[in-house]
Amino acid sequence: MSSVHDGPAAQSESPYDSFAEAYSAETEVNLINRYYARPAIVELAGDITGRSILDAGCGSGSLAATLRERGAIVTGFDSSAAMVDLARQRLGPEADLHVADLAEPLPFPDNAFDDSIAALVLHYLHDWTGPLAELRRVLRPGGRLIAVVEHPHAIDLMDRQTGHKSAYFQTRSRTEIWEYGNHSAPVTFWDRPLHAMTDAFTTAGFRIAVISEPPPAPDTPPEMLADFVSESNPTGSFLCFLFFVLVAD
Ligand SMILES: C[S@@+](CC[C@H](N)C(=O)[O-])C[C@H]1O[C@@H](n2cnc3c(N)ncnc32)[C@H](O)[C@@H]1O
Repeated sequence: MSSVHDGPAAQSESPYDSFAEAYSAETEVNLINRYYARPAIVELAGDITGRSILDAGCGSGSLAATLRERGAIVTGFDSSAAMVDLARQRLGPEADLHVADLAEPLPFPDNAFDDSIAALVLHYLHDWTGPLAELRRVLRPGGRLIAVVEHPHAIDLMDRQTGHKSAYFQTRSRTEIWEYGNHSAPVTFWDRPLHAMTDAFTTAGFRIAVISEPPPAPDTPPEMLADFVSESNPTGSFLCFLFFVLVAD
């Protein structure tokens, strides 16, 4: 994958539509989604029996399927119609799935959910004000938002390792060309410093309950962690995503 700085920020249609199937297949088996992000989210969510959960940016529904197996009542939405189609194939025709954009008002009533999850989706948005206000609005008081984003320190390290000056303290766009199967498309991220994230969460009315940098899941195949495991890092932890549990006070 190649990276372009200060590239075009606007995306008229979802890049995920281009490579939905191949992307989804890869994330069923890869390190960062299958053995890292999803198990860590499930662990942070704890006992979800009977809880109504909104999966914002649900992709092809892998996490939603796990949440449902664990007793949650799941609603999902994604801006990519192709990803929602895959989620529907996985979760069945009765699943509560929507094509919707987190950057726009959400098609759900106030106080509708016990929890919401925004896994690897906020980092595509420039302005978090409206999206967080919407995620707050649809949660009942005391409900939780579990948010997972690219780790800002990992992005800064990557920038500097690829010869760029650090722009850590700016909110700035970064476009990568993603290739899955025979398809490629530009994917634009909006990177920002940690304090910009925590400020946005608290301004939207969330209390930060947990900030987590979890290890990979215990069942991760050891060969996937060979580059990370050492005497000083026995779990094979690596910098990749940052996990928040936020409470709608
Ligand atoms: C990296 S995937 C993560 C999918 C899923 N949350 C998971 O963790 O497996 C990001 C997903 O966010 C969706 N997405 C990107 N921007 C979005 C937006 N503005 N509103 C809703 N979904 C969006 C993409 O279509 C894609 O399915």
